[in-house]
Formats: sequence, structure tokens, C-alpha cells
Amino acid sequence: MAKQAISKSNKIVFFTGAGMSQESGLSTFRGRDGYWRKYDPMKLASPEAFRQDPKLVWDWYYDRRRAALQAKPNAGHVAIALLQNLKQVSVITQNVDDLHRAAGSRNIVELYGNLFKVRCTSCKYRGRIDDKFPPPPPKCEKCDSLLRPDIVWFGEELPKDSLEESARLCTDCDLMVIVGSSLQVAPANSLPVMAKRNGATLVEINVEATHMSEMMDYSIIGTAAGTLPALLDCS
Ligand code: APR
Ligand code: ZN
Repeated sequence: MAKQAISKSNKIVFFTGAGMSQESGLSTFRGRDGYWRKYDPMKLASPEAFRQDPKLVWDWYYDRRRAALQAKPNAGHVAIALLQNLKQVSVITQNVDDLHRAAGSRNIVELYGNLFKVRCTSCKYRGRIDDKFPPPPPKCEKCDSLLRPDIVWFGEELPKDSLEESARLCTDCDLMVIVGSSLQVAPANSLPVMAKRNGATLVEINVEATHMSEMMDYSIIGTAAGTLPALLDCS
């Protein structure tokens, strides 16, 4: 049983996707209510989209950040954070909503960046925009050029340090819990394969099977908030 495997493990990595935050009220990308059912990702989350219409892209990210500011960590986020008191826990997340950190998780790799961070399109300025909403598109306070969300867009490379740290965690863990990801996006979706190849046990939690469910040691059909608290209760 997955619960036994978890209680016997010491080094656990949680690999999370948009489904992890669905019960906090945030949309997924490919699920029933998913963003990509309504918008074309290439029109919103790509360098070309930003070049063509920075205000449209910023309007979308302002909407997503407003929703994220309203969202609270759900019982799944909290269960992962609490497990840190008993085990060596790391989180590799595709989510940019900051909810794992808000729940108290410490070792987090944000593969695609963070909605609350910005960087300049010209100089080296990087900063936080948090709950500020200047007229879009916002400008750099250092050089007055356009700011962009500090998010990895389609067609862009993942930051080297995030990939290296994720690979280190995957080769070192005894068990990986994959929560709320369709596992459609490379190279992130190769991380569970890497963990498996290094002998880790894989536990998947999703409301439906994915194309990688066959590879999992345990594939649990359920929600993040509905499943994780009992599954991770090793007290
Ligand atoms: N609990 C668990 N899983 C859920 C829940 C839930 N409450 N609700 C939905 N899911 C599952 C869906 O079945 C789906 O498999 O979460 C998954 C969400 O998949 P995607 O929307 O594709 O999100 P994700 O896998 O994180 O996408 C990766 O793609 O477009 C990019 O940048 C975007 O970070 C995103 C990346
Ligand atoms: Zn600048």
C-alpha cells in the first residue's frame, strides 16, 4: 500500500502540477475548467505573444495573480508541509502560485517561476510585484523598460539551476509523490522517469489516470486535498 511505502521512506519528493491548487480555487490548464480550453497558450504564455501584445499578456497575468492572492493553501499543501517535521521532504512544483511556500514548505524548486516575481526585459533588474497592480504593462524602476513576469514561457529553457537541483533530488529520493499533473510538458515530465530509474517508488495522485499511470507503483484516483492528509499521516 502507498501509505506503508511513504511511512518507510525518508527522502520524499513531491512533484506537483496545477491539480494541486485546484481545490484552492485556481484553474488548471488541461483539466475540465482548464485555461488551455479557453485560450491558446501561444497567445498568452510565449515570448512572441509578449512581443506582439505585452498588455494582453500582462492583463492575463494580473488576473491570475489576483486569483492567487485570494487563494489559500488547501489541506493537501498543508499535509506536505507538515510531513517536513517527520521526513526529508522537497517539493518540485510546476505551479507559480506560491501556495506551497504559503503552506510552510521550505525546500521548493519552482520550475516555471512565480506569479509574484518580475524581471526587466532590458537590464538585470529582478523584483517582486506581490499585490501591486500598476497600469499594465508595468515598467522597470531602474531603466523604464518593460517588465515581464518572471515565469518560464513556452519555447523558453527552464533555468539551469532549477533543472540541476530537480535532477539531484530525483536521483537522491526513495519515493516521489506526483500530484495533480497531466505530465504533458517536457522536460518536467521526465523527472518522475528519472526518479523511477534511480529506484524510487512512484505514487501518483490525480482525479483521472494519466499517460504515465502505468509506470507508477501506486496510482491513486482522488483529489490532492481529499487524499494527501490521510496518506501522509505518519504520526
Ligand atoms: N486533485 C488532483 N489532481 C487534479 C485535481 C485535484 N483536485 N484537479 C485536476 N487534477 C488533475 C487533472 O486531471 C490534470 O491531470 O491535475 C492535472 C492538471 O494538469 P494540467 O492542467 O496539464 O497542469 P500541469 O500538469 O501542471 O501543466 C504543466 O503546463 O501549460 C503549462 O505552465 C503550465 O505549469 C503548467 C504546465
Ligand atoms: Zn530595467
